[in-house]
Amino acid sequence: MARDSVTTLGSTIALKPIYTVGTVGDGTEELRRPTRNLARSVSTTEEERPRVTMEEITALAKRRGFIFQSSEIYGGIGGFFDYGPLGAVLKRNVKDAWWREMVELRDDVVAFDSSIIMHPRTWEASGHVAAFHDKLVDCRNCKHRFRADHLPSLEKCPDCGMSGTLTEPRNFNLMMKTAIGPMEDTSSQAYLRPETAQGIFVNFKNIYQSARKKPPFGIAQIGKSFRNEITPGNFTFRVREFEQAELEFFVPQDGNDLAWFEQWVSARKQWYSDYGVRAERLRFYELTPEERPFYAKAGIDVEYLFPWGWGELESIAHRGTYDLDRHIEYSGKDLQFFDEATKQKYTPILIESSAGMDRTTLTMLVDAYQREAVVEGEKQSERTVLRFHPKIAPVQVGVFPLARNKPELVERARAIESALRPRFRTQYDEGNVGQLYRRQDEIGTPFCIMVDYDSLGDATVTVRDRDSMLQDRVAQSALADYLAERL
Ligand code: GAP
Repeated sequence: MARDSVTTLGSTIALKPIYTVGTVGDGTEELRRPTRNLARSVSTTEEERPRVTMEEITALAKRRGFIFQSSEIYGGIGGFFDYGPLGAVLKRNVKDAWWREMVELRDDVVAFDSSIIMHPRTWEASGHVAAFHDKLVDCRNCKHRFRADHLPSLEKCPDCGMSGTLTEPRNFNLMMKTAIGPMEDTSSQAYLRPETAQGIFVNFKNIYQSARKKPPFGIAQIGKSFRNEITPGNFTFRVREFEQAELEFFVPQDGNDLAWFEQWVSARKQWYSDYGVRAERLRFYELTPEERPFYAKAGIDVEYLFPWGWGELESIAHRGTYDLDRHIEYSGKDLQFFDEATKQKYTPILIESSAGMDRTTLTMLVDAYQREAVVEGEKQSERTVLRFHPKIAPVQVGVFPLARNKPELVERARAIESALRPRFRTQYDEGNVGQLYRRQDEIGTPFCIMVDYDSLGDATVTVRDRDSMLQDRVAQSALADYLAERL
């Protein structure tokens, strides 16, 4: 697979493989990402770039329980991560936000959930068995391994500096293998899916018939995918186990396919904007005809400006009839749509939006991150604040008593927290007030409620806004409405 990469700020990021099938010079089909114009990938102003390093993000993610290295006590395992108590909620909120807009609020998209392991023929039909690969080279001297497309030249090993020690590039398939049943022979070999989309294609007929849908309509699913990436990196950006949110939207062959493509690009732009991702750090790059597979009429990569440079979050593609045609060919089954009204059979055209949920979650963390000076009276300090959109924030309301050794305050704060819990994501905490605010800022909690001695007399509390740090005095009885309006 020909994969390109982007060099920025001194580091090289590979752009991901896409399963577009194109025909290369020798006539073999190859799943490939055609060559991209790299120059455009480095043009950005310093102002737009997030003012945080990935080291700071990784440290905060661990300290506050967003993301941990998988199996850390055994030294970790490359390309796998675990989501901690706050990270699990953050990622769920991102997925829920996608699901809400893409499925629940539409009457032309249905839900789906397919198995991770599918019949191996699926991956022959899709082209993954033959061509979902990167090119690898090994150094015979230092035994280090590289991706051929990451090396400036194949003459010299970049690690040990020896000339003529690199092997010829050879293909390395990115699909993870497993075996089904007790015998581990070739007949039991199966793959962990490298994308969720194929589950939708092979079920196209089951779904449209049972859901009584006709094109234009879409099928959506969120699920785990696996790719044996040679060089996982940039924290959770390129990993070996990740979640995808994919929408496969099937449209009739009536000449409106490009209009549908445009509609989906607009819908996705709106989504990122609605959930607060800064417009100046987001771009929708239109693939040129040379960059698109031969059967596609249009393609857009959604990219975010990470601390190391631009990285892809999502691809939106016009895929023609390619995917259904391949499964019709390989399965021998009729997956065409029969239109009762016109009594015509046809293969619908596919518009696909495929977003990585781990990358989107990482985007939310990076985009929300801010370090700023705080002046309180005579005192100057700094705070780290995650300005999450309220719908994405893992905790929406923090509640604390002014003093943890005063049972009446503790009892009142706990009562308020449990009363608000059914409506908001709340957290009770106690301790030093300044530290409590700093901690809630650092996990991105939009509002904090402080119960003090006055609260016991007049049933009012202090509500502090994360972003402005301004405080309001609010009647306990009006709290839920006050918060609902702002969240
Ligand atoms: N069905 C189309 C498809 O899979 P893709 O561009 O290869 O297209 C879609 O993948 C999205 O999945 C990417 O834009 C990215 O967000 C996510 N993704 C792909 N490989 C990934 C990896 N190794 N780690 C994290 N996310 C990945």
